[in-house]
Amino acid sequence: MAKAKQTSVYFCQSCGYESAKWMGQCPGCHEWNTFVEEPVVKADPGSASFRISSAAKGGASGKALSEITSLNDVSLSEGKRDSSGIAELDRVLGGGVMKGSLTLIGGDPGIGKSTLLLQVCRNMSATGLKVLYVSGEESKAQIRMRADRIGKFEGEMKLLCETDLDIVSDAVRSDKPDICVIDSIQTMYSTEVSSAPGSVSQVRESTQVLMQLAKVLNISIFIVGHVTKEGMVAGPRVLEHMVDTVLYFEGDRHASYRILRGVKNRFGSTNEIGVFEMVDNGLVCVENPSEMLLIGRPENCPGACVACVIEGTRPILAEVQALVTPAAYNAARRSNGVDYNRAAMLLAVLEKRGGLSVSGCDAYINVIGGLTLDEPAADLATVLSIASSFLDRPLGLDLAAVGEVGLSGEIRSVSMLNQRLAEISRLGFRRCVIPAHGRNEIKRPPELELIPVRNVGEAIAAVLKRE
Ligand code: TYD
Ligand code: MG
Repeated sequence: MAKAKQTSVYFCQSCGYESAKWMGQCPGCHEWNTFVEEPVVKADPGSASFRISSAAKGGASGKALSEITSLNDVSLSEGKRDSSGIAELDRVLGGGVMKGSLTLIGGDPGIGKSTLLLQVCRNMSATGLKVLYVSGEESKAQIRMRADRIGKFEGEMKLLCETDLDIVSDAVRSDKPDICVIDSIQTMYSTEVSSAPGSVSQVRESTQVLMQLAKVLNISIFIVGHVTKEGMVAGPRVLEHMVDTVLYFEGDRHASYRILRGVKNRFGSTNEIGVFEMVDNGLVCVENPSEMLLIGRPENCPGACVACVIEGTRPILAEVQALVTPAAYNAARRSNGVDYNRAAMLLAVLEKRGGLSVSGCDAYINVIGGLTLDEPAADLATVLSIASSFLDRPLGLDLAAVGEVGLSGEIRSVSMLNQRLAEISRLGFRRCVIPAHGRNEIKRPPELELIPVRNVGEAIAAVLKRE
């Protein structure tokens, strides 16, 4: 007997893993209860993506031949970038918006994705580029209201409120904008796929169609993707491998600043961040994140030390705070902004090599500003803030520390020390604890006193034990 044809497949809503049967735990991302059933999508020549390529290239069969070109004949203007008019966004994108690129901006609802892209539309339309903003979430009146908050639109920006992908792609083909925004990918649906909008197959099909449009018509397309903590809506994670650039908007929705982080970038580096602040009239760039992160530091307060980490190519200063109190019962360890295991390791090093008996204490570590310090160069500042809290002696407002801490308590050298010292000095610090063994020659900024130390014990003695 012939086997019945499979009519549905199961997708993991979190990572897009495909399976013929339902599973409780996803083998791809190990999340539980994320599988949903969806009908099989047939890739027939009548599907939207095929229609676009044939219509755009004039092929009759739907398999229009692409032209073979010699590499030297490709003009550089095809890889041209336009400035988005937002310096921090340009930096994360690697120097501007690449023509014909597909960029995904992900983030929690309400973090500011629509606001950022509307600002991009405003700036780019003012330079004479043709801009089309497609919204499946808001009405034209709502977009107008938001636009009025942001400021004056000098150029012309076209609006389309639509969720049917076929209509959207027809509109894009007839309008031929230079920049197109799709807000959001979860609201778009293609009639070729029978599952609901926001499902893995719909989101994939829509992205595929948009990718074709971007490449064939050389349009820069931004797509917005919501990430929900519950993972109920097919997250942008399933799209990461399909698009050119993935940027995530991070930060606490209740705090005013936001960090835009590059996760994937075919046209630039991914270790750049952009820092923004949400104000009454939209997002503004924060050019000096360190200054913002250091505002309001308490004076003469034990348990705080400033670290300098490199985010992308920029040094950023952040305050690491620690609170160490005698444990009532079992010693608790909590860390926020510093990796939990790293924090536990640093506490153990302090106990064994620094001579402070922190093992019987509760320890809470926090990085101000919601920043995550994943660079080992922040170790020394973390250790000093713990020691300062334990000894109940303040380190002083003019002190910063840079260095990696090893398991034997030694302080190891860090990369880009001179840039870090320059930033530390620029922000008015007068003393800085550094590793005694540097890799390169140290350029000491004129007003900064350097305190070279070889191990944790020396560091504590140098800055906490002097009377
Ligand atoms: P929004 O861009 O709608 O978020 P997303 O598209 O990521 O869901 O951002 C909405 C939030 O930003 C909302 O809480 C209001 C706030 N906001 C401002 O504070 N100032 C402004 O000028 C604008 C337009 C929004
Ligand atoms: Mg929005």
